[in-house]
Amino acid sequence: MSSKGVLVAFEGIDGSGLTTHSRLLVYKLREAGYRVGYSKEPTWSPIGALIRELLLQPTVDHEILALLYAADRLWHLRVHSCLGVGLLKALEEGYIVVLDRYKYSSMAYQSLGAPVEWIEAINSRALEADIIVYLDVPPEVALNRVKARRITYYYETLERLRKVKEAFETILGRAEARGVRLVRIKGVENGVERSIEEVGREVYGEVKKHIEGR
Ligand code: ADP
Ligand code: TYD
Repeated sequence: MSSKGVLVAFEGIDGSGLTTHSRLLVYKLREAGYRVGYSKEPTWSPIGALIRELLLQPTVDHEILALLYAADRLWHLRVHSCLGVGLLKALEEGYIVVLDRYKYSSMAYQSLGAPVEWIEAINSRALEADIIVYLDVPPEVALNRVKARRITYYYETLERLRKVKEAFETILGRAEARGVRLVRIKGVENGVERSIEEVGREVYGEVKKHIEGR
């Protein structure tokens, strides 16, 4: 848990709307007068660039990736983020920090080829989030969104995203049991995709409730 600020982490599979909704939340919180900043993982550090390069290969070593993501995360916390300083400093200064992915992504994605306890261990220096916003979107819908937009990374196949989604359900349930507040948002209702506005409104309402209830 962060000391003065609030760490809000968005999690979900690729194409679930993480970038759209984390940015929208920052905009809405700022409009309401909060001191808030956005940042993302993988970062734009040399480690993040290396990760993106490896994700374009047809095969990956999940353990090497897990170590790189964990190192990139410490760089994010201690050295630099989109806020201009390391996340820990921003939190000390009282910022609400909204993250487009955090360590729970490592536990879900890299668990496809590495033991989750070990992934947890190499991420143990990364503080727990205060609030996790989980965007729950079916892999078929999410993958179509990604494919319409850009070239795909290693994990972005239907089979792999199904496994990642299953892993998220377990991992986030465990985080909730440890005391992290978990906000689950459905991106599809009765087989119909919800609009960005509707999902954004629900995210904002839920996060604001948690921030005010602290
Ligand atoms: P991610 O960061 O999870 O990969 P993005 O936010 O970058 O996802 O992209 C999601 C895409 O899906 C965008 O092109 C967005 O316009 C589209 N989209 C359609 N409906 C929604 C919705 N309800 N929420 C978020 N994105 C949506
Ligand atoms: P993504 O959010 O798509 O970043 P960008 O759009 O900036 O390239 O992340 C790239 C991929 O990395 C995505 O498939 C999810 C994956 N990922 C992990 O496997 N483990 C992690 O710890 C993180 C943060 C991301």
